[in-house]
Amino acid sequence: MLLKFEKIAKSYSKDRVILDQLDLEIKGGERVAIVGPSGSGKTTLLNLIGTLDRPDSGKMYFENQDLSVFTDLQLAAFRNEKIGFVFQMHHLLPQLTLLENILLPTLTDKKLQGKETHERARKLISRMGLAEVAHQKPSELSGGECQRTAVARALINRPGLILADEPTGALDQKSAFNLTDLLVELNKEEGVTLIVVTHSMDVASKMNRIYTLSEGKLITIE
Ligand SMILES: Nc1ncnc2c1ncn2[C@@H]1O[C@H](COP(=O)(O)OP(=O)(O)OP(=O)(O)O)[C@@H](O)[C@H]1O
Ligand SMILES: [Mg+2]
Repeated sequence: MLLKFEKIAKSYSKDRVILDQLDLEIKGGERVAIVGPSGSGKTTLLNLIGTLDRPDSGKMYFENQDLSVFTDLQLAAFRNEKIGFVFQMHHLLPQLTLLENILLPTLTDKKLQGKETHERARKLISRMGLAEVAHQKPSELSGGECQRTAVARALINRPGLILADEPTGALDQKSAFNLTDLLVELNKEEGVTLIVVTHSMDVASKMNRIYTLSEGKLITIE
């Protein structure tokens, strides 16, 4: 099991529970969609999965490791190695070129730098159809190009898991379809596990499994 959550609870205030005794199991290589109304706690859940936040109670296991024993510093290293993030807005650094943005997650670790990483970046850029714009800055790219750059950045360290929070939310329909297809192809080609939060049933229907977050728990739609 890649990920196992047991009775996870999370609140931001005493009078409102966001996640309530939530259970979740995800196997390596799965494609999972999480849908649900605005405010239901999807981003909250994704932040927990991404180890950006900790639960109030419950157990989180990643590759059978109990995450609660990790210090914040250990979690940061773990996250950088194992998890790639794609957000609704690409969060690229405006002063860097597309190529430099993609290489950013490799800068924290000497081991990750060098020829092999540059080769990986070059392959990803070509895979994403970005070769012609690799030396341009985000302000000189389209929304779809920025989002594809964000996907390449998420993949540069070969994470086992990609977390995407409404990755197509800011795109037109054609770019949204392209990005979703790209994510699905990467899941099939590289075996990367995909967890996508989305409001779009078009996006959700391309995953293997769809969960709805409702009243703090996940319900599967078979
Ligand atoms: N840091 C925070 N402090 C206090 N309340 C928060 C915080 N983050 C989120 N919330 C509240 O928790 C609830 C769940 O928020 P969350 O962002 O997880 O929802 P969501 O399902 O991702 O919604 P959307 O579809 O609009 O992105 C919301 O009511 C939100 O206002
Ligand atoms: Mg959200």
